[in-house]
Amino acid sequence: MKIAIVGTGYVALVTATCFAEMGTEVFCVDVNTEKIENLKKGIIPIYEPGLEDMVHRNQQAGRLQFTTDLTECLDEVEVLFSAVGTPPDEDGSADLKYVLEVARTVGRNMKKHILVVTKSTVPVGTAKKVRRAIQEELDKRGVEIEFDVASNPEFLKEGAAISDFMSPDRVVVGVESERAEELMTRLYRPFLLNNFRVIFMDVPSAEMTKYAANAMLATRISFMNDIANLCEIIGADVNMVRKGIGSDNRIGNRFHGIVIEQISGTVGCAKTCRFHIHGTFNNADGKCCK
Ligand SMILES: NC(=O)c1ccc[n+]([C@@H]2O[C@H](COP(=O)([O-])OP(=O)(O)OC[C@H]3O[C@@H](n4cnc5c(N)ncnc54)[C@H](O)[C@@H]3O)[C@@H](O)[C@H]2O)c1
Repeated sequence: MKIAIVGTGYVALVTATCFAEMGTEVFCVDVNTEKIENLKKGIIPIYEPGLEDMVHRNQQAGRLQFTTDLTECLDEVEVLFSAVGTPPDEDGSADLKYVLEVARTVGRNMKKHILVVTKSTVPVGTAKKVRRAIQEELDKRGVEIEFDVASNPEFLKEGAAISDFMSPDRVVVGVESERAEELMTRLYRPFLLNNFRVIFMDVPSAEMTKYAANAMLATRISFMNDIANLCEIIGADVNMVRKGIGSDNRIGNRFHGIVIEQISGTVGCAKTCRFHIHGTFNNADGKCCK
């Protein structure tokens, strides 16, 4: 199977390399010429344990190619992942200009069916906007070409990105047609064969899952920071409290270790907006919820 991944940031490069490692032929596309020229020479823009060797191995095997021109590979690929940046706008909402630019480029150039999968962290409703942007370009060209959109949010952690991708807690896939489900099942077959959970659902639920996960993690950090502040006041040891509550398996002992780095006062939207970087708490219009 041949796929394209648009972007060569953290998410795109890890995704592209890991899919190539599993035997998929991957074209990795970025508008940043310098990054692409460096990647062609084997120079990796980020440090992630194990990534450099894996990129080189798959480049040499011809499974991983880098280009600045999406149109070069559009006719060849069945699935295109969009993993471009979604920087926070002035009000903290996710700026979708790169995501929609990718969709318009696809609509302007596609000649056959393609499944466009959004991997960037985006507000609920973005897949509809992506569909509309592609369709508008097809209408301008006066052509009728079938396509599908899907959502496949990314949950990797920087520093453990490869193991998070290769041995995921779960893969969430939002689809709206049987054809899209069949393509994503083929792509993720190695995960299914290894008994990793690949959870298929509708597109808004997949988009919402990413936001709900980010919100839950942000809430836990805020909660533990408040507990740390209380511990300081009453003379308790927050690390002992953390151990004490984390051993309850309804709570768990992961992601409670950040209490040392105080992010105080994170209750309420004004302060939790810092988590908009990862797409938390935006509403359907991409606006801050405050
Ligand atoms: N970094 C993480 O840990 C992480 C984890 C989960 C989800 N995410 C989400 O994944 C998305 C990507 O994040 P990142 O950190 O990898 O981004 P990044 O900013 O590091 O990289 C984005 C890349 O996209 C390229 N780009 C922009 N417009 C383009 C276009 N039209 N065509 C081709 N390339 C284009 C840029 O040149 C850049 O190289 C974001 O939505 C982010 O919130 C990130």
